[in-house]
Amino acid sequence: MKNNYIEMMEKRRSIYVIGKNVEQSEEALLNTITDAIKHSPSAFNSQTSRAVILFNEHHHKLWAIVEEKLRAIVPVDRFTATEEKLATFSAGFASILFFEDQDIIKQFQDQFSLYTDQFPIWSEQATGIAQHSVWTALAQEGIGASLQHYNPLIDQAVKDEWQIPDTWKLTAQMPFGSIEAAPGEKEFMADSERIIVFN
Ligand SMILES: Cc1cc2nc3c(=O)[nH]c(=O)nc-3n(C[C@H](O)[C@H](O)[C@H](O)COP(=O)(O)O)c2cc1C
Repeated sequence: MKNNYIEMMEKRRSIYVIGKNVEQSEEALLNTITDAIKHSPSAFNSQTSRAVILFNEHHHKLWAIVEEKLRAIVPVDRFTATEEKLATFSAGFASILFFEDQDIIKQFQDQFSLYTDQFPIWSEQATGIAQHSVWTALAQEGIGASLQHYNPLIDQAVKDEWQIPDTWKLTAQMPFGSIEAAPGEKEFMADSERIIVFN
């Protein structure tokens, strides 16, 4: 019998066709996201991960910011494709902004100088774990999500729009919503090329 958690992991996929047909309340989703981040591990239990959850017009504003920033750098003849892609994110129900608090990293570096070089790396690992936890938890609710990286292009505009603390560094954006199209088959390399065992 397959481990329950593995089954949950298999349910998480990158879902790009998302909509607003979400049954859960904003509060219920917020609780799921909060708990997933809360129970994600971090180096020395430093709890560096932060999130901002954008619903309604805030969600749409995020993708308008991304569009504005990309318009300045994407060639005009390729911008239609960019606009179409961003519209698929905006079509979702909400977005999560993931951050890592650089101030906490600094505090831990000061306290444990032996690991000065490691704390920023561990912080990046922590945000990845938090993102995966949230993504997997949402999948159990039948909610589809994808992971996007328009940072650092949008960092300042995001900080200005939602008055984000200066020490919070944006690490990822996760638009989510109802699953409007199933993801394609996923290819896997041979386990034997990834896992070495001695017994
Ligand atoms: C660290 C990391 C960065 C990623 N960045 C992006 C991204 O910027 N845009 C995107 O559409 N997907 C991104 N993805 C999603 C991967 O492409 C996706 O997880 C992978 O192809 C496996 O597909 P699955 O999520 O359906 O299992 C990222 C995934 C990871 C783990």
